[in-house]
Amino acid sequence: MRFTSHLITALAGICSARAWSTYVVPHIDGADDVPGLTTALANFTEDATILFDKGTTYNIWTPLIFPELTNVEVLIEGNLTYPEDIPTIQAIVASDNFPGTWCVFTFTGGDNVTLRGSEDPDWGWIDAHGQAWWNQNNQENRPHGWSFSKITNGVIRDMKLWKALTSCRPIAWNFKTSGSSNLHAFNNVILAASDNSSAFPFNTYTLCPGFSAGGTDMLFENNHIVNGDDCITVGSGTKNIHFRNSYCQGGHGLSIGSLGKNGDVADVQNILIENVTMQSTLYGARFKSWLGGNGLARNITWKDITFNDVPFPIYVTQKYANQVGENNSTDTNSTHIEDFTFQNFTGTIRDTPYVEGSCVSNPCWYYVANATGREIVIFDLYPETATNIITKDLFPKTETGAQVDVMCNATTISNDVGFECVNGPFVKTEAGH
Ligand SMILES: *[C@@H]1O[C@H](CO)[C@@H](O)[C@H](O)[C@H]1NC(C)=O
Ligand SMILES: *[C@@H]1O[C@H](CO)[C@@H](O)[C@H](O)[C@H]1NC(C)=O
Ligand SMILES: *[C@@H]1O[C@H](CO)[C@@H](O)[C@H](O)[C@H]1NC(C)=O
Ligand SMILES: *[C@@H]1O[C@H](CO)[C@@H](O)[C@H](O)[C@H]1NC(C)=O
Ligand SMILES: *[C@@H]1O[C@H](CO)[C@@H](O)[C@H](O)[C@H]1NC(C)=O
Ligand SMILES: *[C@@H]1O[C@H](CO)[C@@H](O)[C@H](O)[C@H]1NC(C)=O
Ligand SMILES: *[C@@H]1O[C@H](CO)[C@@H](O)[C@H](O)[C@H]1NC(C)=O
Ligand SMILES: *[C@@H]1O[C@H](CO)[C@@H](O)[C@H](O)[C@H]1NC(C)=O
Ligand SMILES: *[C@@H]1O[C@H](CO)[C@@H](O)[C@H](O)[C@H]1NC(C)=O
Ligand SMILES: *[C@@H]1O[C@H](CO)[C@@H](O)[C@H](O)[C@H]1NC(C)=O
Ligand SMILES: *[C@@H]1O[C@H](CO)[C@@H](O)[C@H](O)[C@H]1NC(C)=O
Ligand SMILES: *[C@@H]1O[C@H](CO)[C@@H](O)[C@H](O)[C@H]1NC(C)=O
Repeated sequence: MRFTSHLITALAGICSARAWSTYVVPHIDGADDVPGLTTALANFTEDATILFDKGTTYNIWTPLIFPELTNVEVLIEGNLTYPEDIPTIQAIVASDNFPGTWCVFTFTGGDNVTLRGSEDPDWGWIDAHGQAWWNQNNQENRPHGWSFSKITNGVIRDMKLWKALTSCRPIAWNFKTSGSSNLHAFNNVILAASDNSSAFPFNTYTLCPGFSAGGTDMLFENNHIVNGDDCITVGSGTKNIHFRNSYCQGGHGLSIGSLGKNGDVADVQNILIENVTMQSTLYGARFKSWLGGNGLARNITWKDITFNDVPFPIYVTQKYANQVGENNSTDTNSTHIEDFTFQNFTGTIRDTPYVEGSCVSNPCWYYVANATGREIVIFDLYPETATNIITKDLFPKTETGAQVDVMCNATTISNDVGFECVNGPFVKTEAGH
């Protein structure tokens, strides 16, 4: 991380005293609080705190788009509520003059921007009222997450999302950081679990990660994410990401990709994911690239991962199209992968028959032909595109006590991957210790 520029500007700040203003966002009972705030924002784009005051529950009934900001802190000490009436929201989103998707807060750029919640357990909650949508399995025209784009020196901290809705097309997220650099995201809580066991908090069309990391030089730590999709997903163009000391429950893993869709040239480098607990997630560490894709993903490490009740602890596919039955690519390339390390994974594989809530087809989208359901690792690699992919210090058990297996095709990778590269029992090799 490079916080040097921060420091230099901070020192400069000491010499030139300047006016700092605080804008307390006004609230009107029964009305949308966004239009008033939007008008006032023009006066608070620099050296300002925008405060959602403690003691107030604000109505965030329309998308809030911030202008470019410099040295601004958006402080959420009150509660925020999304609109509750589903048909009204859908009608707004579907209307002709609506700008596409409903991002709750959109940051469009700037420098030194902080988005901060409250440490008071009773306040600072952002209630998306997701349960009603999940109960209806309603995925059309939903509001979704927070876009923190094109910001240098950003902070996202102490944010608390409740019943977070993330699903919409073509892409969805809770916090998305595309095009930002030098970001620190910490102490955030995303709770998007469904109380209704037959209503899964998922979108069948796309992925709705906790954090969608795009950009460079980012540190994510001490985040707590309970959701129905990727805990973090790292997209193309992303470099120097450190994600650590976090807890993920119920979602789809610590994911890179998908990369290379429709022939895209991917570029992902220097990703370190460490000290994360994966509780009852579908995947643990996961990489996916599409057939027909291009480009390179290199120097990616997942280490010190604890997994409990996870069907696919380590899963790499460079043939992602196959997995979802969309292999219409006539190109036979895939994003190249290089220097991947999976180290110090301990836990239990869920090896009993498993139907995850996101499964709406038979076979499921995550079905793997010929798998035993006891695999600690599945490497589904594309020939001549994978170099130096290594596992080390894996300590898996199955929930039933049955033998642990692996899937790996030795004609697709030449280095010692840390276990015997076969479809069969998990047997460590020299590199695996
Ligand atoms: C950055 O913003 C914070 C408020 O979030 C402020 O306290 C600090 O002074 C700003 N830094 C600079 C260099 O202006
Ligand atoms: C912005 O500030 C100016 C000068 O103080 C004031 O006249 C104007 O009403 C303010 N605009 C808003 C929307 O608050
Ligand atoms: C704020 O919202 C959270 C989540 O909906 C709720 O549990 C809490 O009671 C609310 N706080 C107050 C003071 O209403
Ligand atoms: C729970 O979800 C199911 C499936 O969407 C739905 O049929 C049922 O009505 C929901 N239960 C409640 C209490 O809303
Ligand atoms: C690992 O992360 C947990 C939080 O999930 C934290 O309590 C613990 O201190 C971290 N361990 C290290 C070695 O940083
Ligand atoms: C690999 O990535 C890590 C951080 O994730 C970084 O510290 C290291 O310098 C990178 N190594 C190379 C050879 O790029
Ligand atoms: C496959 O992708 C790699 C990595 O981008 C590229 O170097 C290579 O030229 C591509 N091969 C084909 C046949 O497109
Ligand atoms: C392996 O990871 C666990 C969980 O993060 C950690 O407690 C332990 O210290 C790590 N072991 C080594 C040898 O680093
Ligand atoms: C492949 O299928 C995807 C999804 O169905 C579609 O968007 C894309 O245009 C198709 N590509 C080709 C080359 O047919
Ligand atoms: C994907 O489809 C293409 C075109 O039909 C075919 O050449 C290729 O072998 C398929 N790939 C796999 C892994 O099945
Ligand atoms: C599954 O195993 C059968 C029998 O060994 C083999 O014919 C088939 O190609 C395998 N399928 C895949 C996708 O590996
Ligand atoms: C291993 O990969 C090679 C190259 O893609 C393929 O021809 C072969 O069928 C694969 N073997 C198995 C058992 O899947």
